Amino acid sequence: MQNLPHHVAIVMDGNGRWATRRYLPRVAGHKKGMDALRACVRHCGDRGVKVLTVFAFSSENWNRPADEVSSLMELLAFALAREVPQLKAEGVRVHFIGDRSGLSEKVRAGLAQAEASTAANTRLVFNICFNYGGRWDIADAAARLAARGEAITERSLAGALALAHVPDPDLIIRTGGEHRLSNFLLWQAAYAELYFSDKLWPDFGGADLDAALADYAGRERRFGKTSEQVTTAPARKAA
Ligand code: IPE
Ligand code: IPE
Ligand code: MG
Repeated sequence: MQNLPHHVAIVMDGNGRWATRRYLPRVAGHKKGMDALRACVRHCGDRGVKVLTVFAFSSENWNRPADEVSSLMELLAFALAREVPQLKAEGVRVHFIGDRSGLSEKVRAGLAQAEASTAANTRLVFNICFNYGGRWDIADAAARLAARGEAITERSLAGALALAHVPDPDLIIRTGGEHRLSNFLLWQAAYAELYFSDKLWPDFGGADLDAALADYAGRERRFGKTSEQVTTAPARKAA
């Protein structure tokens, strides 16, 4: 596809409402959301997207009822064990982005193992933001630079952020009908194209992702320049 985003980031929102509408417990929505994520990873790889970053659990999600938080932790541990061999076979390299200090020893070991076992893969970089917040990321990066006595510049800060291993997202999708970032990729979203879908995350399928990619392909990214500057091909030098 022409104008395919190199890096797609997704706020996977709407699992709870998906379940509630069916008179199911919220955790049923999170489980169904996992199926949608599995399909999405595959679809991104098939379309040629090189980096996929998803928001799975925010710094603020700790404020949910304790039983939902523990279900989400269990789901993560369960998904790691079940999904990683398949991701490995499909050429997906997994990275976990977020504050691991708040996670249990068991979950931390699972994350490290998933990263190590997929480290040689190159088809798709898959960043899972878990216990992540954009403000945490910026403050943590600044604190590490300050502790090393390094100057804080745009360049040094960008290099110290948790997503320094990939270019900024080209396209950020949020499902579930809300029009906000909810503390996702605050620094990296500076020039991302934003796309909002009313579909709840468990219902967001390949055709919906294709619609987002098609919408992106029609955008004009100006990065502060004028439309004429970005559409006019540079004049050829006379021989
Ligand atoms: C997103 O779905 C998943 C997480 C935040 C973990 P929600 O759980 O926020 O679903 P809604 O927004 O309540 O429907
Ligand atoms: C954002 O969704 C976080 C994730 C998708 C993991 P939320 O449902 O937590 O966001 P708010 O609270 O509606 O802003
Ligand atoms: Mg939500």
